Amino acid sequence: MNIYDSEQMAIRLKPLGYKLVSFLESADLIIVNTCAIREKAEQKVFSLLGRLAKLKKKKPDLLIGVGGCVAQQEGKKLLQRAPCLDLVFGTHAAGRMPELIQQIEQQGCRMVDIGMSDQKNPIESIIQYDQNINISKFVTIMQGCENFCTYCVVPYVRGKEFSRKPEAIIQEIKALVKCGAREITLLGQNVNSYGTKEGICTFPELLACLNQIKGLKRIRFTTSHPKDLSDDLIDCFANLDKLCKHIHLPVQSGSNRILRRMNRKYTREEYLGKIAKLRKSCPDIALSTDLITGFPGESKSDFEDTLELMKQVEYDSIFAFKYSDRPNAKAAGFNDKISENEKRNRLQKILKLQEGFTARKNSLLTGSIQPVLVEGLSKKQETDNQHNSNNNLQWTGRTSTNKIVNFFHDDLEISVGSGSDESYEGKIVDVKIEKVLLHSLKGKLMRLSENKHFF
Ligand code: 5AD
Ligand code: SF4
Repeated sequence: MNIYDSEQMAIRLKPLGYKLVSFLESADLIIVNTCAIREKAEQKVFSLLGRLAKLKKKKPDLLIGVGGCVAQQEGKKLLQRAPCLDLVFGTHAAGRMPELIQQIEQQGCRMVDIGMSDQKNPIESIIQYDQNINISKFVTIMQGCENFCTYCVVPYVRGKEFSRKPEAIIQEIKALVKCGAREITLLGQNVNSYGTKEGICTFPELLACLNQIKGLKRIRFTTSHPKDLSDDLIDCFANLDKLCKHIHLPVQSGSNRILRRMNRKYTREEYLGKIAKLRKSCPDIALSTDLITGFPGESKSDFEDTLELMKQVEYDSIFAFKYSDRPNAKAAGFNDKISENEKRNRLQKILKLQEGFTARKNSLLTGSIQPVLVEGLSKKQETDNQHNSNNNLQWTGRTSTNKIVNFFHDDLEISVGSGSDESYEGKIVDVKIEKVLLHSLKGKLMRLSENKHFF
């Protein structure tokens, strides 16, 4: 979401004459878009501000602003803590940011804006018409969260749930497709509760509409709350051809006692029931999750329940975090905290266990042919002897199940008309998986799935 929000900020700054540069040192204005989800993310903001303060000493006209969740959370305290700052603007102030900057430019003042937007008159996204956009783009469809999981800062920094109108979303996605995007990831803190509050259109209905957009090849969404995963949404994985075979479904813990203390509003059994339904609807669906280790009061047996759940589900991949206290979040006031050491040990155990599952899941793909949406040339042009002797370029993309695939094309295998100077960007191609690494797959191009675009 921060990638999308930062892009929106850059678009809003264009009319003021600002354009993006690649090096901090050449900027006249630096905006730090911040995340407050865990303590570590927040610490990163302060260490970066320390570095920027040094830069400002050398270049006194430099303007520095902090936006996003840490700005929302800290408000004017940030100005006191970081004297190098000119501007602090919260999660609902991005639309007002250009005016604030103009005021700072003209008056040399320091500004803070952490006002929330009017729910009836929310700020709409600005549509991009840039011709050089990536194949895969994010689009925020809803914001905010009212679930109040006891560990989480989001409801306090992002505010109440609000869903964009389907027409606005469709218009934005059509514009992105026109500019070259082929895959859209729909974003929301609680994406699958899209439209519930407004009652205009349900999330599965929205997906069905987007599935019809010409030129759009793949749809993903994140992040879903297990309690809002409806049967209709599960059916979408069987019925919508553009919807990718992957769902990120954060479970957080495998213990019912901890889930209750986290206020997650589902039990382990309900969660596992939904996983079973997903697998029935779409047998090769890839599953990923978020897990927290050392939530206050998490006993050894609660932790064992989490390991047991992981063994039962066998996720394709996970994100796991040590619990950290967040301002205003209820769990920060719980008194049965777990030591840092224990949280770290549990995290290590979880990551170790998952390594085996990821490797096994990926190795099952060896020898298979996977449709891959090509995102572009691989950044790391590896020096693979066999291929480099042919001067072949390495391409990168993802499977529908969200696994990264790097591949070379092999002249012997491809059809007429495909020279090595052919660009595969934005095309779905068949890749034979030859080698499995921990975080990616390697393969060779077989033939183009969509050869009508090719010959
Ligand atoms: N401590 C640790 N992890 C957290 N997350 C959210 N809040 C906290 C916290 N206080 C994790 C959850 C969530 C992911 C985005 O970050 O696992 O799903
Ligand atoms: Fe945070 Fe829970 Fe909302 Fe997710 S659902 S953003 S974890 S409060």
